[in-house]
Amino acid sequence: MLTKDRVIVCKDYDEMSRRAADVFADYIRENPTGILGLATGSSPEGIYTCLIEDNKAGKIDFSGIKSYNLDEYYPIEPTHEQSYRYFMNDRLFDHVNIDKANTFVPDGKCADPDAFCKAYDEQVAAAGGVGIQLLGVGRNGHIGFNEPGDELIGATHLTALCESTIDANSRFFETRDDVPRHAITMGMDGILSAECIVLVVSGKEKHEALMMLLSGKYTTNAPVTLLRSHKNVYVFCDEAAYNG
Ligand code: F6R
Repeated sequence: MLTKDRVIVCKDYDEMSRRAADVFADYIRENPTGILGLATGSSPEGIYTCLIEDNKAGKIDFSGIKSYNLDEYYPIEPTHEQSYRYFMNDRLFDHVNIDKANTFVPDGKCADPDAFCKAYDEQVAAAGGVGIQLLGVGRNGHIGFNEPGDELIGATHLTALCESTIDANSRFFETRDDVPRHAITMGMDGILSAECIVLVVSGKEKHEALMMLLSGKYTTNAPVTLLRSHKNVYVFCDEAAYNG
């Protein structure tokens, strides 16, 4: 359960990133062949910078580590600068000693998304499941691309992005029309079955989503609220997100 001592309010984005990165660095040291669940977007970028520094300083070793990313736009080429595969290579994988063959991001150009999603879940399970899962949260409370709605889906699946998510992510594309309308995302089962979850929340535009999580209520209209039930979850936020 999410207890008060697991909500760590940091001065700013940099402190939040360093402290959250320390949880990952400890995990990597304790589990040299562990499995990371990774996220993209602005929230985790600072963590990746810290992990690169730690790797270069010889404090952590990625050589035995595997990673599975939460989501990917659909359709998109992996070489597209806004694809999540490109993001992960650029922000982390190209700069640490991880074997790229051990890094997995949903395939944004697969011909049969349903078959792909099923195989992705099977692959994660066969690898032993995610040891530590990094998450950001959307302004609307989404995690991965599990968007608010009457129902949430357990398995990895193809989903339509909400208009508000398309608006938020259009900052990365030339025009709003260029934002893919769909994504492949791990579902709630995949996220909640990680042994440990680290959520990072930065900026006042995330205040409402953070408060929904901290309110003590559960709602599928803010998928982030389901994290409360997890047995080993940390929330690192900055003062802007906490105070609004
Ligand atoms: C990204 C992901 C999304 C983002 C969320 C917040 O892999 O799963 O749920 O974490 O949209 O994005 P940022 O961090 O860019 O505000």
